Amino acid sequence: MTDVTMDKIVSLSRRRGFVFPSSEIYGGMGSTYDYGHYGVLMKNNIRSLWFRAMVQERDDIVALDSAIILNPRVWEASGHVGGFTDPLVDCRTCKLRFRADQLDQSSCGRKPSKRPGETADCDLTDARQFNLMFKTQVGALEDESSTAYLRPETAQGIFVNFKNVLQLARRKPPFGIAQVGKSFRNEITPGNFLFRVREFEQMEMEFFVPPADAERWYRYWVDARFDWYLKYGVRESMLRKREHGEEERSHYSSGTTDIEYLYPIGWSELEGVANRGDFDLTQHTQHSGTKLEFVGEGDERYTPYVIEPAVSIERIFVAMLVDGYDEEVVAERDRTVLRLHPAVAPVKAAILPLIPKNGEMVEKARGLHEELRKKHVVEYDDGGQIGRRYRRQDEIGTPFAFTVDDQTLEDDTVTVRDRDSLAQERLPIGGVAAWLEEALARPWRTPKA
Ligand code: GAP
Repeated sequence: MTDVTMDKIVSLSRRRGFVFPSSEIYGGMGSTYDYGHYGVLMKNNIRSLWFRAMVQERDDIVALDSAIILNPRVWEASGHVGGFTDPLVDCRTCKLRFRADQLDQSSCGRKPSKRPGETADCDLTDARQFNLMFKTQVGALEDESSTAYLRPETAQGIFVNFKNVLQLARRKPPFGIAQVGKSFRNEITPGNFLFRVREFEQMEMEFFVPPADAERWYRYWVDARFDWYLKYGVRESMLRKREHGEEERSHYSSGTTDIEYLYPIGWSELEGVANRGDFDLTQHTQHSGTKLEFVGEGDERYTPYVIEPAVSIERIFVAMLVDGYDEEVVAERDRTVLRLHPAVAPVKAAILPLIPKNGEMVEKARGLHEELRKKHVVEYDDGGQIGRRYRRQDEIGTPFAFTVDDQTLEDDTVTVRDRDSLAQERLPIGGVAAWLEEALARPWRTPKA
């Protein structure tokens, strides 16, 4: 079995243009990343598969895109100004900062084999609470009244729009509001590639339900989200559900289950599903003076409970790269391959003329490329030996490659090569578009153990 380390994932991501360290020519910008072509395509696929499951395929969830900078009172009401903190300690000797609750997982700045505080030279301050929200200034005046925050979660933008959606989209519980967008957290110890970053794209859905149904819907969403990962090929053996104990839960939660993935750093939170009760709508009602409740027929009136599945594209991105990464030896040559679900793969098919100097082959391959690109992201490649081109496509996870060769010029057939099995078959060139459509719609399971 391939040993998948975070270093291998970082190196492949960089080598093949998925992800680069941000502002690299200026020495980087602590745990922020930029996405290259294939990273953007893969992120787009993850986002649209989430949106499809959450909105497109359901009648009871609508979309929202709220602002990143909200009225700062939103964050007072939500509890973020007062309580969105991590305990922080500084080391006066090495000048590094650590999360006080994670010292056992951190390394001393001078002696990395030791924990902070373990050597005689370590000089740690007392722990103090550090707010994770990024502060900014709105308008020209730089005083208290112009302080605003970059949102640390998309959820609050949903709660403050509850009334709009209830009225304008004419909804009644159970119904949900889904949002995808950037969130920002000034993490004390970001790291492990994209796993913990300061700027990430959250996908959150707040599902409003009658209080008596909250427990049932909570269980429903834990299962639905778990099944979503299986549907897109993540191995069940690498996933687990872990329910939080009472002491671990956030202030707003009366039940939280993490869907965890076995990342190279160990079992860690991929997605959280929380029963937030009526905490948020009640807080915003009290702070804004606007009643956020559901008023039904007769004397029906209540504050809905909220069930929230919340995840970042980054955590899914890393989990899917780790799950897909594989190395094998084929015909005495090493092969690295990303066994991504075809729906997640950045490029669906490669079109390759066997001999790039052969004008007829190039023309046929270009024609096929023009036809297939109308529906899918496909790639034409005539650079270098065919073996190298296959290897490149394997490393970016392209599930199929169509090769135009000598025989194509005789009988108008092409070879299709399967990324996972390496099986090859011949198809009439005119039937490739339909074949690809059918192949991409087939259920897919990873051959990885
Ligand atoms: N609205 C609830 C909320 O934001 P959270 O557990 O703090 O809850 C939800 O975050 C999800 O957002 C996490 O399960 C994880 O997928 C993602 N996430 C949180 N912090 C992150 C970070 N610094 N980098 C990448 N993803 C992060």
